[in-house]
Amino acid sequence: MTDIIDKNIQNILANIPAEEPARQYYFIEKCRDLVKEEQKRLGRPLSCCVVTFGCQMNAKDSEKLTGILREIGYQPQEGEEADLVIYNTCTVRDNANQRVYGRLGYLHALKKKNPRMRIGLCGCMMQEPSVIEKIRKSYRFVDLIFGTHNIFRLAELLYRCMAGNDMVIDIWEGTEEIVEDLPALRKFPFKSGVNIMYGCNNFCSYCIVPYVRGRERSRNPEEILEEIRRLAADGVVEVMLLGQNVNSYGKTLEYPITFAQLLREVEKIDGIQRIRFMTSHPKDLSDELIQVMKESEKICRHLHLPLQSGSSRILKLMNRKYDKEQYLALAGKIQREIPEISLTTDIIVGFPGETEEDFLETMDVVQKVQYDSAFTFIYSKRTGTPAASMENQVPENVVKERFDRLLKEVQSIAASRCGRDCGTVQTALVEGVDEKQEGMVTGRLSNNLMVHFQGSSDLIGTIVPVRLTEAKGFYYMGEMTVSDGQASPERPGQDQI
Ligand code: SAH
Ligand code: SF4
Ligand code: F3S
Repeated sequence: MTDIIDKNIQNILANIPAEEPARQYYFIEKCRDLVKEEQKRLGRPLSCCVVTFGCQMNAKDSEKLTGILREIGYQPQEGEEADLVIYNTCTVRDNANQRVYGRLGYLHALKKKNPRMRIGLCGCMMQEPSVIEKIRKSYRFVDLIFGTHNIFRLAELLYRCMAGNDMVIDIWEGTEEIVEDLPALRKFPFKSGVNIMYGCNNFCSYCIVPYVRGRERSRNPEEILEEIRRLAADGVVEVMLLGQNVNSYGKTLEYPITFAQLLREVEKIDGIQRIRFMTSHPKDLSDELIQVMKESEKICRHLHLPLQSGSSRILKLMNRKYDKEQYLALAGKIQREIPEISLTTDIIVGFPGETEEDFLETMDVVQKVQYDSAFTFIYSKRTGTPAASMENQVPENVVKERFDRLLKEVQSIAASRCGRDCGTVQTALVEGVDEKQEGMVTGRLSNNLMVHFQGSSDLIGTIVPVRLTEAKGFYYMGEMTVSDGQASPERPGQDQI
């Protein structure tokens, strides 16, 4: 077997394409041959499973990885009892890392049952040298490790992995290269994330993302629009534009364009009915964006506007570049201009030096803004970030007590906000059948809340009018209605039958 592979390697060295993505398509072919051989030997197809930890960016990367693996001949599945398992990791907080180490123990047990199983690790956590050291030493059963900058090289790395017995490790410190146009397998046929930029330049003092995702790089607008046109032609009705700070999109392009201008272009694409985006940094949110949102018929009535802290003193230490007053003024302006907007946020509790007074400032902003929901996080020390070496780390019991108080407040405001649309008719994108109640489906409202109502699976992927009949705290119950003389739900992008 080794002989065959060695010959293979010699043969291919002569004619590997240097250009991407041709090079990866070349290795996809090569891997496909090896997978076929193994399938023949085993007398069954090979399966793969990509598990995503972390944010939307990682979820999008996982779709790319799964697409490449399917092209190679693996059958994607949900469970980890597979022939190839890849963990796409997150390292934003320490508990994200601990979860991966914990799950690796489980994978080891699976590999003992199926020694042919291959295990790959990629994503943000792999960009940290201390993690690689630990895996090299204590998790020898891992076969393949790569980072955030070279996921497009999966086929090439997998080929190396299949051809030898050693752990294959390929981590890049950064890249200027953006390689797209490789296969991807969407999780949902009717909605999709679209990367508009990569990396982050903000260096918030607590955050590891700029170190593991590299410098900010915007994709060319034409490429983005072309991708969305292709998605629309393929039945996608909702796109989510992705970036760590979408409001600074386009600033570094050769021909600069603003995020608001990009949104205007996306709006023009037929078939796309809903546009969302993640994440907005308050410091870069322009009046132009508010105006475009206000005038748009497709941009959803939801804005995630991370606060992090309500204390101007802490915000300065966090390097967020806005203060409490500026944030409140911005939130107020958005709520005035777009009254039906649903605002959500991220908040960190227990940043080094946070006093009770600082914390009360955060509570004050929460009460003033009245978020529809908020993700609350306990500060996690990330080695290498400026905040990690700050003095006055807040004791655990104090942080926990503040966290509980904040969570209670956030939940009670969210529950009261959820009731405000009761009785109205809103459009919902049906995302799936309700697992818990037979004969029911689940739809997502423009404001990002979910609604459960009677319907069958053939509604999935359609946008239908729903009357919201009952608020359940953070979701609604409803019933489908017929509006504007429309007798049946529209199924955008499909011919009338
Ligand atoms: N780019 C996005 C956030 C990406 S990380 C933005 O700036 O809004 C998602 C969230 O994780 C952040 O908004 C922050 O609230 C939280 N977070 C990041 N680093 C953290 C840390 N060290 N400890 C606790 N929470 C953290
Ligand atoms: Fe992290 Fe700040 Fe960049 Fe968001 S904007 S990814 S919080 S450094
Ligand atoms: Fe986590 Fe990386 Fe996203 S650290 S939050 S998966 S960018």
